Parts: sequence; structure tokens; C-alpha cells
Amino acid sequence: MSQLTFRYARKGDAAAIVDLIERAYRGLEAAGKWTSEADLLRGPRTNQDEIVSLIDREDSRFIMAEESGKLQGCCLVQGVGGEPSRTINAAYFGMFAIEPDAHGVGLGKIVIAEAERRVADLWGANQVVMTVINLRHELIAWYERRGYRQTGATLPFPFSETSGEAHRDFYLVEMRKDLS
Ligand SMILES: CC(C)(COP(=O)(O)OP(=O)(O)OC[C@H]1O[C@@H](n2cnc3c(N)ncnc32)[C@H](O)[C@@H]1OP(=O)(O)O)[C@@H](O)C(=O)NCCC(=O)NCCS
Repeated sequence: MSQLTFRYARKGDAAAIVDLIERAYRGLEAAGKWTSEADLLRGPRTNQDEIVSLIDREDSRFIMAEESGKLQGCCLVQGVGGEPSRTINAAYFGMFAIEPDAHGVGLGKIVIAEAERRVADLWGANQVVMTVINLRHELIAWYERRGYRQTGATLPFPFSETSGEAHRDFYLVEMRKDLS
């Protein structure tokens, strides 16, 4: 594998980001594997308008990981600021997707580590916060091995913003990691 290079997405990258997110999260290529949510959700995960509007936001960046100019991974980071206490300056992490052909070879670990470095540089963040579907036990364990912990907070899954759910008995759990 040649070297991954990182850059922030521009509006012209939105189509490639949508394609990667859809294939990685819910596509048939990865369905049934620990890396996929296709057994739970089959409708679109996002769309081009949403990605363009996120790229436009001052408090958000899409990090793109490329190998020889080809998109291999992406994630969204957002500065969310000082909650729940003034000593915490958290950044949100989401829309994390790795090219399905390359799942399980270590790219995800490299991309999340880069995102953690960048949120510290961009916003002085000292914590990363994310939400994960509670039924994705292998993925939660993967984040725990990266230093994330479940906080005990839960959120309803936004079923009104999605479609194609296989059932409705799941929700989101919050995970956080302190950056040192
Ligand atoms: C989740 C995702 C980002 C992980 O990235 P990745 O590049 O596939 O993961 P990596 O190759 O870096 O990590 C490999 C890990 O998988 C683990 N793994 C491999 N096979 C596994 C299996 N069958 N079950 C559980 N874990 C497995 C390995 O043990 C290794 O973990 P370790 O190094 O802690 O031991 C990626 O698979 C993805 O894009 N998934 C779809 C989108 C998604 O679910 N995003 C997250 C939403 S919160």
C-alpha cells in the first residue's frame, strides 16, 4: 500500500464522498460483515446536498484520505465546543467511511488517528464525541480499542431522517475519548 495523503474536501468532492459513504455503510459489498449497517438500514445514508452543506459550514470539515489520488476514506469533524463543562472542548466525529475493498487492513485506524490530531489543531479540541448504533457491538469494541468509552448517554435513532430500516429497536450510544 502506498502512502495515504490527507486533505479537506471541497464542494467538488461531494459526489465521491456520497458514493463512498453509501457503499461503506449500507452497500451490498460489505453487507453482513461487522463493518456494515446494511442489515439494519438499507435507505440512503446521506445525499449530495447534505454533504455540500456540511463542507460549507465554518465549524465543519470533511477529511479525505487518498491513495494515489483515489478516495480511500473520509470522516466529518465538527467543533462543538465546551460541553458538558468548561474544561471540555469537544469535537464531533462522524460519517466515517473506508473503501469497502480495503476494510480490515488498518486504514480506519490511520484515518481516525489523523482526525484526532486535526481537531486538536483546528479547534484546540481536547475530546472527541460520537454516536454509534447500540447493536453494532464489534464496532463499539473497535472504538473502545482506540480509546473511546461509552458515556452512558443514549439518543433516539433519527428514523424520520432515514428509510429502509429492517426494524426499529435500536438507538444511538454516545462515545467519547479524551485527547492527551
Ligand atoms: C468501521 C470502519 C470505519 C473501520 O475501518 P477499517 O479500515 O475497516 O478498520 P481497520 O482495518 O482500521 O481495523 C481493523 C480492525 O478490525 C478488526 N476486525 C477484523 N475482522 C473482524 C471481525 N470479523 N469482527 C470484529 N472485528 C474485526 C481487527 O481486529 C482490527 O482491530 P484491532 O486492530 O483493534 O485488533 C470501516 O469498516 C467502515 O467504513 N465501515 C462502514 C461505515 C461505518 O460503519 N462507519 C462507522 C459508523 S459509527
